[in-house]
Amino acid sequence: MHHFQYKNEELYCEDLPLRKLAEEVGTPCYVYSHSTLHHHFSVFDQSFASIPHLTCYSVKANSNLALLKLFASLGGGVDIVSGGELFRARKAGIPPERIVYSGVGKTVDEIDFALKEGILMFNIESTEELKAINSRAGVLGCRARVALRVNPDVDPKTHPYISTGMKKSKFGIAADSALQAYDEARSLDHIEIMGVDCHIGSQLTEISPFVDALRRLRALIDQLNAMGISIRYLDLGGGLGIPYDQEAPPHPRDYAQAILQELQGLSCTLIFEPGRVIVGNAGVLVTRVLYTKKTEMKNFVIVDAGMNDLIRPSLYGSYHQIQPIQKRTAETQVVDVVGPICESGDFLAHDRALPVVGGGDLLAVMSAGAYGFTMSSNYNSRPRAVEVLVKGDRYHIIRKRESWEDMVRLEAIPDIF
Ligand SMILES: Cc1ncc(COP(=O)(O)O)c(C=O)c1O
Repeated sequence: MHHFQYKNEELYCEDLPLRKLAEEVGTPCYVYSHSTLHHHFSVFDQSFASIPHLTCYSVKANSNLALLKLFASLGGGVDIVSGGELFRARKAGIPPERIVYSGVGKTVDEIDFALKEGILMFNIESTEELKAINSRAGVLGCRARVALRVNPDVDPKTHPYISTGMKKSKFGIAADSALQAYDEARSLDHIEIMGVDCHIGSQLTEISPFVDALRRLRALIDQLNAMGISIRYLDLGGGLGIPYDQEAPPHPRDYAQAILQELQGLSCTLIFEPGRVIVGNAGVLVTRVLYTKKTEMKNFVIVDAGMNDLIRPSLYGSYHQIQPIQKRTAETQVVDVVGPICESGDFLAHDRALPVVGGGDLLAVMSAGAYGFTMSSNYNSRPRAVEVLVKGDRYHIIRKRESWEDMVRLEAIPDIF
């Protein structure tokens, strides 16, 4: 469920017309619905109300401080993958005991920061990382709480770039080496084993890969128990998909039901790391048509948002619905919606039937709340878009539009010319 609906042929976010918002804050702009964010987080979290669990929102999906604060206020923790995300999480007031830290390339500085903050646990991705964390914890005179991220070799049936739990992937420790890695972990003086972790991919539209992965992890937990290693946390990662187009991913409640069924007799606290399913359909990217252009082959709609603002179509060939902010006509035309960037890969939609639009019209690129702003860049020296949070009929700027001055702030011209 989301709160982007038409009223009198005008697209609203909650009770605010997006046209009015765009006129006031300019375009391109990312717009998030507070009610949708609140609802998505609560539905996911409450689906697991019957068991001890922690919903650790995955910061990479959308790392704006205001969103992190909202999820923290709903009892959420976070899944982080960098020192920068830890910094954000702490700035937003997420307590350290609700933070888990994944990622294959944690640096010494990042490890030290997380140890000093006292996070719940590191999700360890290799035995070299395990030793590095043990050694840093030794230097700092503490013990690092860890789970090993196990690669269960399950095909999540999603885009290869966002599949993370197959044998060929860079993530985690191979399932058949996991026992040995745990044995090594328990021999280390500054390591405290807390749990088992996995993450198999993102935008999953079926439940069975999650269940397969969970069964493999349960078998591993039994073996670890037999070795005298007790597991307090089972972290099942994120990955639940959302409808961008015709996909019909499982509802979080159905996902939860399937997981809960597999957990009978297990006495761990469960951790989940949902990202996309919480924020994806809670945000849109509003853009203005600059020009239209007809060539022998195509009708182009040239808009003021480019691949620097939303890279998913260019990077993964992803589909995002595009809707007019004011419905003026029922007449449609097949168009390519493209941005101003000097790359042929700069597009938001190819061969899409859209209501006929002209220069000045506003469009909403739907389902842009996850991996939208966070993957944006300054390519072509384009300032990053403004981010706005709407609650009811009011809006709050939660990140200002960058200025040209902002873009060059960290640069310097050396005195050598
Ligand atoms: C370790 C980890 N946890 C959680 C997530 C969030 O996944 P999603 O946005 O699909 O829920 C990701 C995404 O890649 C991830 O790598």
